[in-house]
Amino acid sequence: MKKIMINEMSNHVGETVKLGAWLANKRSSGKIAFLQLRDGSGFVQGVVVKEDVGEDIFQKAKGLTQETSMYVIGEVTKDERSSFGYELQVKEIEVIQAAVDFPITPKEHGTEFLMDNRHLWLRSRKQHAVMKIRNEIIRATYEFFNNSGHIKADPPILTGSSPEGTSELFHTKYFDEDAYLSQSGQLYLEASAMALGKVFSFGPTFRAEKSKTRRHLIEFWMIEQEMAFCELEENLEIQEQYVAFIAQAVLKNCKIELERLGRDLSKLENIQAPFPRITYDDAIKLLHEKGFDDIVWGDDFGAPHETAIAESYDKPVFITHYPVGIKPFYMQPHPTRDDVVLCADLIAPEGYGEIIGGSERIWDYDLLKQRIQEHGLDEAAYAWYLDLRKQGSVPHSGFGLGLERTVAWLSGVEHIRETIPFPRLLNRLYP
Ligand code: 4AD
Ligand code: MG
Repeated sequence: MKKIMINEMSNHVGETVKLGAWLANKRSSGKIAFLQLRDGSGFVQGVVVKEDVGEDIFQKAKGLTQETSMYVIGEVTKDERSSFGYELQVKEIEVIQAAVDFPITPKEHGTEFLMDNRHLWLRSRKQHAVMKIRNEIIRATYEFFNNSGHIKADPPILTGSSPEGTSELFHTKYFDEDAYLSQSGQLYLEASAMALGKVFSFGPTFRAEKSKTRRHLIEFWMIEQEMAFCELEENLEIQEQYVAFIAQAVLKNCKIELERLGRDLSKLENIQAPFPRITYDDAIKLLHEKGFDDIVWGDDFGAPHETAIAESYDKPVFITHYPVGIKPFYMQPHPTRDDVVLCADLIAPEGYGEIIGGSERIWDYDLLKQRIQEHGLDEAAYAWYLDLRKQGSVPHSGFGLGLERTVAWLSGVEHIRETIPFPRLLNRLYP
């Protein structure tokens, strides 16, 4: 007999198959039991009819506890009533391990309780759907960059320099030297772009930020892109094509998951390039019109500001040309204004906030050196980075997309803690 997975059932209608599964839930009467089975690839209902299986197997089915692991043998049938479309007519059940007092029951639980049990909470339908969407975004990311001639260049995680300012670095020892956990692979990607042209990376990112919001993780995963001979506008075009591509991939390949999460699909159908652009100057004006009287030119935007700006659009929106004072040292100045830089943040709709930060990079040696000094950075640690500006320097641009914020937005989940298997938060390193 063939052992298959739930998401392969459509190819086996009418056959008797074997599933390795856990019991997610069950209900039963005197004559029939409905087992909600899950195996990681999906969820399916197993139907146990007393008259067909006999008293022993029926009693075994009725006595199964939540999350018990087992092999189930049965016939695959069509089921027009469920969104999945198939059922298993159970013939035999072989219990592997009977679970004891699974703590997460169908009733409501508090967030702290669920977070303490994250290792088990991951099995629930909602969490399963979010993880499948996360996986689809990662899959589509590789497809997009491979199809557009990018080469994956993995930057180091242990580093001696900081791209995004020194206040949020995780410090560690590297034998006798000081080292930091990567807060962005950008500087290394710039060097890689000078060797490989168009590059991307996907890796863990660490920010010792004392932020406790629904958008902040201490450890998150970032997708970064960098391209030689590329100015800001061309980079924004790559960003909007990429984001539209992953949104459409999720829509196409995660139908069951989006439905389970109750996501409004029309909002995602709309995510097509091009995306609107607004300058920082105009964004400040827009905020004043919307009654945010406190914000003045030169301030950074907080979550309420980003949400208010995003509300004016039904697609992600680029805010471009931020003041030089609130952006990192490496950003290329505007050609005719010295108070703003050639950069953009991409703000997701529906209050999900900034999902991308990107810019054109300074490629002039003297200017970059001056900026490194102005920012009080250790010049020796950046010698290699400066060196790039002496050896065939070219205009180049790139961006970084926060994976978890993107998962939250596309899935429609409220809090970023549900978008990564084991979130690292300000007050949480367990489990
Ligand atoms: O805007 P950021 O800090 O940009 C950079 O790190 C650039 N060096 C990227 C580049 O140009 N190669 O971070 C990029 C994105 C943000 O837009 C956000 O989506 C995400 O990373 N991000 C976070 N996500 C979760 N938790 C945090 N604490 C995050 N900080 C940034
Ligand atoms: Mg940013």
